[in-house]
Amino acid sequence: MCGIVGYIGDKKASDVIIKGLKRLEYRGYDSAGIAYQNGELQVKKGKGKVAKLEAMLDPNENATAGIGHTRWATHGEPNDVNSHPHTSTSQKIALVHNGIIENYGSLKKVLQNKGYEFYSETDTEVLAKLIESFLENGENEFKKAVQLALAQVEGTYGLAIIHADHPDIIIAARKGSPLLIGVGKNEMLVASDASAVAEYTDQVVYLEDGELAVIERDNYNVESSDSTSLIKEVHELAMSLDEIEKGGYPYFMLKEIFEQPKAIADCLRGRIDPEKGTVTLGGIADVMEKLAGAKRLVIAACGTSWHSGIVGEYLFESLVKIPVEVEYASELRYKEPLIGEGDVMIVISQSGETADTLAALRQAKENGALVLGVVNVVGSSIARETDAGVYIHAGPEIGVASTKAFTAQVTVLTLIAIMLAQYKKSISDEKAKKLISELALIPEKMQQVLDKSENLREVSNLFSYAPNFLYLGRSVSFPVALEGALKLKEISYIHAEGYPAAEMKHGPIALIDDMMPVVVIAGTNHTNDKMVSNIEEVRARKGRIIAIVTEGNAEVEDLSEFSFSVPDTEDELSPLLTVIPLQILSYNIAVNRGCDVDQPRNLAKSVTVE
Ligand code: AGP
Ligand code: GLU
Repeated sequence: MCGIVGYIGDKKASDVIIKGLKRLEYRGYDSAGIAYQNGELQVKKGKGKVAKLEAMLDPNENATAGIGHTRWATHGEPNDVNSHPHTSTSQKIALVHNGIIENYGSLKKVLQNKGYEFYSETDTEVLAKLIESFLENGENEFKKAVQLALAQVEGTYGLAIIHADHPDIIIAARKGSPLLIGVGKNEMLVASDASAVAEYTDQVVYLEDGELAVIERDNYNVESSDSTSLIKEVHELAMSLDEIEKGGYPYFMLKEIFEQPKAIADCLRGRIDPEKGTVTLGGIADVMEKLAGAKRLVIAACGTSWHSGIVGEYLFESLVKIPVEVEYASELRYKEPLIGEGDVMIVISQSGETADTLAALRQAKENGALVLGVVNVVGSSIARETDAGVYIHAGPEIGVASTKAFTAQVTVLTLIAIMLAQYKKSISDEKAKKLISELALIPEKMQQVLDKSENLREVSNLFSYAPNFLYLGRSVSFPVALEGALKLKEISYIHAEGYPAAEMKHGPIALIDDMMPVVVIAGTNHTNDKMVSNIEEVRARKGRIIAIVTEGNAEVEDLSEFSFSVPDTEDELSPLLTVIPLQILSYNIAVNRGCDVDQPRNLAKSVTVE
């Protein structure tokens, strides 16, 4: 995680870098720092957020080249010394790093034996010293010294490096952590993601693993790991500034919750024809035969994306009649997974940069499986490395707690399931048509849910200081329960668990007493009777029932202390509506508790380390 920004051009570098770091702050925010070229290198850094760093800067400096960093610590606690940039002994080299130098311990020992002193507990500091050691050894070309140092490194990195004696260049290098060059007019940027450069240019060059770039204000040269100069494709960014600003909302999370009707409409646009009852997904059209012939599907993802994967499991099994396994991407590769030719893996990722998910996809590809991506960020590593895929088109998601990406992922998985089921003729035309026409109505129904979200205020206030929450659901409402619990944990720090409703009696029921809020997601009609029995079981133990029901479900409403209804839809699509009140409940509670909703403690949006 962590965000990197570098700038070289005509503008005041620190202004551009601070703005860029603020846009990247969702990636990590435990400390921040900047280094700029001002005759010699100036470094300012410290624990805390970018706003604190901004206050430390000298308003009169006018440097036009520099690098900055917002950190999510992996090695060494978040404190001033461990903050990036890290510098070489001579203070002539400064660098910022995203990733983990796995062999930093042994490299550090070698350098210490040579007399180098270390001040931080980070893995990163070793790089600054290592590069300098090559310069001192006579490899006096800056780029060459960086290459020699990187050749010794095991692990992952996105790097931006400057040198006091080479004020006209920034060196950037990538292995495993995302990095792109923003190509401007008489100015260049380097950043972890496009939101930091979008204000200055819509032309970007994505670096691939093993590549190194020498960036000047009016030129850049990218080389492969064997030092061959590369001609890189320049991509045009389709990102507007409105999409990455709060637009009047107090938090990005709230903005993104309210953007869901638009996100789903964008996601469906041009892909469904409710009249004809057809789904068209250009991104997977060429692999339909292989997909239809798969013995099984393996879905790999993390966090919220894993939850949408479980919704996908229900959809694929019921509509396509294909066995599905949903794996935590982080666990998959250590299980000696039996994935090979004939299998299809679907990886789901909002950011497209999650290291665990990327590793799972690489392993599946290596084993000969076809790998499809369901990704939000266009041009991200996962999107580029999958064999085929479908973008969710939710627009930038900046709040650390994922909201609109979840509903857009579920929408795309539904589209894939319907398209595949029609291809395999495993569902009737009537069923497909019904699902497609109901999908088309989802944005409108989401809006109806949002329009009455104030009704959740009372229940949010009442339970804001509860120490625990339980979330229960059956069938496709079970992953919604998991997602509701994760949202609450992430942003309000209340312990919460999601369970399949019937599983409660096998353990968690012991937790229920008259203090325990139990959120039941009763949005799936075909499991309603069983859900009613589970609610009775909670009531019998005086649990406090908060029910999310479909409109007209008087039975569950009567049994509950609080209820919130969502419009009726096909059971398969119900997560798209029932998850919204859970997002809002968590948001309200987090605000009541004075938590930083967009930047919850210890978390980062994009987990690019394993
Ligand atoms: C969701 O609210 C989380 N912050 C987190 O679980 C996230 O979903 C997970 O890290 C996966 O990210 P990705 O979708 O970008 O791969
Ligand atoms: N490993 C580095 C550190 O702990 C970089 C962390 C990151 O990429 O988030 O400082």
